[in-house]
Amino acid sequence: MKYTLAFDVYGTLIDTTGVYDTLKDLVGKDAKAFMDTWRSKQLEYSFRRGLMNKYAYFSVCTSDALAYCCKVFKSDFSAAQKDALLVTYTVLPSFPDVKGGLQGLKKSGHKLYAFSNGSSDAITNLLINADLYELFDGIVSVEDIQVFKPSPLVYKHFNKETNSTKTDSWLISSNPFDVIGAVSYGMRSAWVQRSEDSIFDPWGIEPTTIIKGLDELSSELNN
Ligand code: 2OP
Repeated sequence: MKYTLAFDVYGTLIDTTGVYDTLKDLVGKDAKAFMDTWRSKQLEYSFRRGLMNKYAYFSVCTSDALAYCCKVFKSDFSAAQKDALLVTYTVLPSFPDVKGGLQGLKKSGHKLYAFSNGSSDAITNLLINADLYELFDGIVSVEDIQVFKPSPLVYKHFNKETNSTKTDSWLISSNPFDVIGAVSYGMRSAWVQRSEDSIFDPWGIEPTTIIKGLDELSSELNN
């Protein structure tokens, strides 16, 4: 069967730890804690904006979360240093398994879409920079409906935009909140467990399958 595949971007295709090196130069030993706080606060702000019905570009959540981290870590960055950090978020690297995995899935006849909280422009730039853009049939951004993941409205929007259904589409994501949102909506979903210590939330809503990299997905889709 040929599926329409929705690929989450940040943390799934694109490695957000790519900001670590820039942070290390700025905050030294606090770099890992700073980076982890930045990512979790960025997501928290998207959840809060969703509940408040107060949409703003995901890049606003990213820059506001950076401002929060500067307060927590008492980092007195210059405007140029903050801009440099925000620029690194626009040119992050992909994970090593991604390009080959996507090429194999495309060759198998599946439709590939990048599906993200990020704006279409931001995702386009990320994918071009990571040399992945040509592999996708399209990009679906939540900016079209101004609601963030994991609202069921975003997965419904994906199906509508790609002329797919709950049964002929999959969500592929390393973010458990995204996988739980998609399965709760009615889609199949593969959780990409990017590290051994990644924990899947014990909600009783499980991924359809668990993979360690996109190269494992093809065989899972044929099951
Ligand atoms: C996304 O790319 C935030 O990883 C999430 O939509």
